[in-house]
Amino acid sequence: MKTVVSGIRPTGKLHLGNYFGALANFRKMQHEHSCYFFIADYHSLTTHPTPNDLHGNVKQALVEFLAAGIDHEIATIYVQSDVPQVTELYLLLNMNAYMGELERVTTFKEKARKQPENINAGLLTYPTLMAADIIIHKAHMVPVGKDQEQHLELTRTFARRFNRMYNHEFFPEPVAYNFGNNLVKIPGLDGTGKMGKSEGEGNAIFLADEPEVIRKRVMRAVTDAGPTQPNQEKPEPVQNLFLLMKAVSDKETLDYFEDQYNHCTIRYGDLKKKLAEDIIRFTEPFRNRIRELSADDVYLRKVLKAGREKASESAAKTIREVREIIGFTEF
Ligand code: TYM
Repeated sequence: MKTVVSGIRPTGKLHLGNYFGALANFRKMQHEHSCYFFIADYHSLTTHPTPNDLHGNVKQALVEFLAAGIDHEIATIYVQSDVPQVTELYLLLNMNAYMGELERVTTFKEKARKQPENINAGLLTYPTLMAADIIIHKAHMVPVGKDQEQHLELTRTFARRFNRMYNHEFFPEPVAYNFGNNLVKIPGLDGTGKMGKSEGEGNAIFLADEPEVIRKRVMRAVTDAGPTQPNQEKPEPVQNLFLLMKAVSDKETLDYFEDQYNHCTIRYGDLKKKLAEDIIRFTEPFRNRIRELSADDVYLRKVLKAGREKASESAAKTIREVREIIGFTEF
């Protein structure tokens, strides 16, 4: 049995990218491995949320993980800040994490460009904290989306560096995992890049969105004037709609619209209508569960208490061993 760890930053509602990138894989893996899923609330401090927002976002993330099928009786679900051993490992890893390698991380460079007024040290060392999250449980596999690939590469570097430095095969080198397939990148609706919470209004579809909102967003998605030659390559915005369809619709539907595109008979309005209805059908069970769970604080507290205990036990064991390896031993 392998150990699996994954997490999500609590910065608002979860979108379809989060679901297909991380949650869906975790949901499958939880039945076969020893699994930890956590809410990365320390990570979310890089954007300076108010205490009220932070608290609300953590609750929302928890509700949505559970609604997305993460089972607290099988997997360990916890809040990162409930397991402070993570921060000790983060500090220790930072001693061997170099400015050069941290400054080269694409997500750091992007964030620094987007928020030049707030390039804090937490942003720079984000990958060290993420590595600590993962190796604190000595994880082997990390179900994540494509955007996390570089972070996982650094996690392996840090794990390997520690092992070499102390001449001890202690941490496994964890890999990003999607059942042997390529990691996914779910596109947004605005014609470029990926679905993301900070990509602007209209880009993302959230698991909790009401049908009317989903219809409106999909109908407004960017397309082009339509194909003029049979079998021509699709421009990015159109390709994005097909990728979304591939995620939520059945094969027959996808083949039908591919065929229409290739014969230049496609009507994007029809494709969007069908896509919106399929997203609504796909997200329906989440919406219902989210509503039920949000009202059940007693249950949520129980889940977090059990998660805190299980995650702390595993993290405390790793930290005890790490301290010994480093030389923090008793006189
Ligand atoms: P975050 O909160 O940005 O995203 C959570 C998960 O959702 C995936 N994801 C996507 N996958 C496919 N297509 C998309 N458009 C898309 N958008 C988001 C992300 O790849 C991720 O798996 N650094 C992490 C949180 C984290 C973490 C960890 C993850 C902290 N420590 C340890 C794994 C292990 C993050 O910011 O994800």
